[in-house]
Amino acid sequence: MKKRVLVIGAGGQIGSELVPFLRDRYGKDNVIATGRRTKLPNVVLEGGPCIYLDALNEESIKRVIYENEIEHVYHMASVLSVTGEKMPQVAWDININGLMNVLEVSRRYNVERVIWPSSIAAFGPTTPRENTPNETILQPTTMYGITKVAGELLAEYYYKKYGLLTLSMRLPGIISSETLPGGGTTDYAVEIFYEAIKNKKYECFLGEDTILPMMYQPDCLQCHVDMAEKDEKLFKRRVYNVTGMSFTAGELTAEIQKHIPDFKITYKPDFRQEIADSWPKSIDDSIARKEWGWDPKYDLKEMVKNMLDVLTPRLKK
Ligand code: SER
Repeated sequence: MKKRVLVIGAGGQIGSELVPFLRDRYGKDNVIATGRRTKLPNVVLEGGPCIYLDALNEESIKRVIYENEIEHVYHMASVLSVTGEKMPQVAWDININGLMNVLEVSRRYNVERVIWPSSIAAFGPTTPRENTPNETILQPTTMYGITKVAGELLAEYYYKKYGLLTLSMRLPGIISSETLPGGGTTDYAVEIFYEAIKNKKYECFLGEDTILPMMYQPDCLQCHVDMAEKDEKLFKRRVYNVTGMSFTAGELTAEIQKHIPDFKITYKPDFRQEIADSWPKSIDDSIARKEWGWDPKYDLKEMVKNMLDVLTPRLKK
């Protein structure tokens, strides 16, 4: 399958790895990467077409989609949970008005699919926290979560009203080795690796027993491509729970210590603890597995081994 693809927000934790992944599949000239706030990483800049795009500017999205005959849009530009609490109005603007522009232009120019990640942040303190089902209470208490619920509804609306094929996965915390996440509550699970390798110590901003759902980047990238490429008839709904694993900060530490025995951790929970405590501990993704064959490969042990294998030579240089 060859597709003309647009990745909005190619400088972020997921976008910066999604772009090379898609370029390998569809050819480098078929994947247009866009950024806005910071310089795109070299792996994105040097691998194919890159342009400036502000998702808040509808005209510029129109031009890019029209001139490049885009068939799939991956809308990755988003303000995460912690930044969203610091700047709730900005989070609403980027996460919702940006999404609205993307949906509107996509339906006008007959884009085939729009892939837009939702998040476990769509759930809240009133949601069952263990094995959280696909269809359940959505009453988040963060602005980030509010934009995810509103975005899910908006994407569903565009599907029903205009037939625009939108698909979303509720992503848990993503663990990756290329671009650091920024402004999220699950960021600790990436930072910990850098500090363990470089300094053998880390001060965690969540408590030892805090358990959250997580996923390793290779599974996350595969999830995006599955949603873009699998037969649309398999998708009976617009939004799917997906997960790779769940662990506490303490369990992650213990797994890292198997490889770096003198790694020391201290726990100093801050305001982010309250956000983590409002999210699920584990996710039921059986509907995604059943309907379209979601099948993540990495558990805690494999993920930790892989992260250390990739990061250790790089950080020890
Ligand atoms: N990683 C996100 C955050 O922590 C959750 O979707 O904000």
